[in-house]
Amino acid sequence: MIIYKSKEEIRGIRKSNRIVAKILAELKALIQPGVSTLELDEFAEKKAREMGSVPAFKNYKGYPASLCTSINEEIVHGIPSSSRKLKEGDIIGLDFGVIYDGYYGDAAVTYPVGNISPKAEKLIQTAKEAFYKGFEKVQIGNRISDISFAIQNHVESQGFSVIRAFVGHGIGFSLHEEPQVPNFGLPGRGPKIKAGLTIAIEPMIAEGGWDVEILHDKWTAVTRDRSLSAHHENTVVSTTQGPEILSKIGDEKSELPDAKEKYYA
Ligand code: MF3
Ligand code: CO
Repeated sequence: MIIYKSKEEIRGIRKSNRIVAKILAELKALIQPGVSTLELDEFAEKKAREMGSVPAFKNYKGYPASLCTSINEEIVHGIPSSSRKLKEGDIIGLDFGVIYDGYYGDAAVTYPVGNISPKAEKLIQTAKEAFYKGFEKVQIGNRISDISFAIQNHVESQGFSVIRAFVGHGIGFSLHEEPQVPNFGLPGRGPKIKAGLTIAIEPMIAEGGWDVEILHDKWTAVTRDRSLSAHHENTVVSTTQGPEILSKIGDEKSELPDAKEKYYA
């Protein structure tokens, strides 16, 4: 069952997502050769708690950390560790979620470590663009797979592939709600988009093939061919005035949906 959110509930989800967005932005400044992924995890957890929220991933289905740190061929769910240090030329996906006042926030971004290859640069850029292609389809009357189709089209047009083993998802009262939001597929399928739909759109893409393998730690997902992978995710809401990214840093004023005369559900 899809849970459409009220104005008041959207306000709560926006708040938790803004905490996530702020922490992901602050993490960017820490990204440099020699930094361990555990240091990034500890920073994110500390900041989240200081802001009155709780990390959403910690202990979720047994996940042992607050942040997911996925380097190079790692697609998602890389586990932070003191022995894993960033190297010049790496790319690192940071995926973070919090719970604030009962509402979930979830977003991810891929950052370069120092100078990276043009191909890695293009991969990061394409994951981000793919998110926006999907985001533009979050219009009332469209269907969920219109998002999927737009993402796949863009990624493949750039010569990259879309990971199929993981999908975007509804979010708000839980980390994962209905509907699933795949990053591939034919348009015009799945539930119709209505006002108050809150979903995390999260293209995961690869330079090579889309086959995945899970490492022995039972979490880290890597490309089977070990080609580079990038991830970009935002929590968004559908309104009668079009879609809004909730996991975006914003000022107090724009926390009032009334001021924007939006209708949610
Ligand atoms: N952004 C990821 C997701 O939506 C994060 C989940 S990691 C987990 O599924 F550890 F919490 F599972
Ligand atoms: Co997610």
